[in-house]
Amino acid sequence: MPFTLTTPLYYVNDRPHLGSTYTTLACDAIARFQRLQGQQVEFITGCDEHGQKIQRTAEAAGLSPQAHCDAVSERFRDLWRHWQISNNHFIRTTEPRHRAIVEQFFARVEANGDVREGRQQGWYCVACEEYKDDPAAASDPSCPLHQRPLEWRDEMNLFFRLSRYQEPIERLVASPGFVAPASRQREVQNFVAGGLKDFSISRLDLPWGIPVPGHQGHTFYVWFDALLGYISALLRSDDPPDLELAITRGWPADLHVIGKDILRFHAVFWPAMLLSAGMELPNRVFGHGFLTREGQKMGKSLGNVLDPEVLFKRCGPDAVRWYLLRDIPFGEDGDFQQQRFSDLVNNDLSNTIGNLLNRTTSMARKWFDGGVPPAGAALEPSHSLAIASLAAADKFDAAMAALEFRDAAESLLRLAEIANGYLNTQAPWKQMKQPGQEAAVGADLYAVLEVSRFLAVLLTPLVPDLAARMLSQLGQQALVSGAGSQTGDQAASMTDPTGAEPPGPSGTWHPVRRWGLLCPGDPLPEPVPVMQRLELDSPL
Ligand code: MSP
Repeated sequence: MPFTLTTPLYYVNDRPHLGSTYTTLACDAIARFQRLQGQQVEFITGCDEHGQKIQRTAEAAGLSPQAHCDAVSERFRDLWRHWQISNNHFIRTTEPRHRAIVEQFFARVEANGDVREGRQQGWYCVACEEYKDDPAAASDPSCPLHQRPLEWRDEMNLFFRLSRYQEPIERLVASPGFVAPASRQREVQNFVAGGLKDFSISRLDLPWGIPVPGHQGHTFYVWFDALLGYISALLRSDDPPDLELAITRGWPADLHVIGKDILRFHAVFWPAMLLSAGMELPNRVFGHGFLTREGQKMGKSLGNVLDPEVLFKRCGPDAVRWYLLRDIPFGEDGDFQQQRFSDLVNNDLSNTIGNLLNRTTSMARKWFDGGVPPAGAALEPSHSLAIASLAAADKFDAAMAALEFRDAAESLLRLAEIANGYLNTQAPWKQMKQPGQEAAVGADLYAVLEVSRFLAVLLTPLVPDLAARMLSQLGQQALVSGAGSQTGDQAASMTDPTGAEPPGPSGTWHPVRRWGLLCPGDPLPEPVPVMQRLELDSPL
């Protein structure tokens, strides 16, 4: 079974922002990690293009909704290309194949008796595309999330009989690991315990949506349509748009990664829809936290939105990936602080990790004929740095599998610190001056070079470009962790950022995670800093 992983399908009401970039970068790290572990990965992202919010945005811009969606979804594609996101599927909910899947799915739900007509009254937030539960009684309520007035709605809609699924959904959300992290699981359990109500799945007189077959004047509610994008995305480009076929291409999803704002849709509504259609449920839903900037919510009105395109141009992908994944406990809210961003990148990547490699290759080249020194005692499995490297690799794997990016990054930092400490204690620059110490110095340098190689290999899912530069400084090939070597509708057009050849038949990183693989005598390239320091003299 492939490992199917999804980001949310982003609304195209605006260009991409740091929030969507954060989710997508995190998923990319997961996808790369899983590929290196030997999994076939189906990594899905895309755009959610229907609904009133999009229709209004297009109108305001004086464009047809389709022209607007074409333009904005292209920006998303471009951005992910720049950031070297290794998705092998990109779904747009305005694609004809998607419409066909929605129609087939709806037919199953309707045949199962789960669609009824009803009157929908309530306060609606167009920005959330959601009815709000509580403020029905209030006179002029506004959305707590968007701080915009809610709109009163009263219309006949089609409803999905969610109330029928109370028990199975209660059991599902109580099962360990389905909703993570634990704090979010409690939130969902409380919501379900409050009693599930049927929800409306169509809108009347909203032309920008997929028409509901057999119900004139109705279009699908944007969420009913969008969630199904996770399945239509799985179709290969030459597949007929058939629901049965789509699910053989990688359903059920292993993991939906989303922001905490859309947990209910994924952990409650979506599984109930799937149960109704007789389909398998995803294994996990992970709701991460929200990012603020220097302690403030990011928004147009505050003028403090961090533009991922600017961030990419000024800082490069490694710095941003490292900071977001290393500093924010995945699942909790996080704050983007410019000073802390440059401090961490400079300390961790330029100094602790980059400098370790740089100074070690310089010494090795200087004293050992421009190449890798003889390994000597460094090859002993009991060498303290061999033990530390293998232990760091185990910790890294466990943390990545648990989506604890911060712990994963810290295990690598600790390893780099241990190796720096080792160099400082052994002080090869002093030892080299004493006669007869060459073999001992060579072994010490070899061991530290091996640690650097381990670090580069393990850094690959988190910061693939930096990892590739480090490996090249060690005269080694970069690892392929992108989508290039796998099937999927985008695979053919994806190039791996590292420019490396696809991996061997096993395609995993296990063969290079053995101690002592550097070959003594192999030339080491001229050292160049692998990570430029960030010098941010103006606000991003
Ligand atoms: N279109 C729906 C999702 C449909 S999925 C079938 C949607 N789109 S969205 O573009 O509004 O937002 C999607 C996600 O963007 C959020 O759940 C979250 O993952 C991310 N973020 C948006 N703002 C964010 C922050 N400020 N911080 C972190 N992530 C945030 O909802």
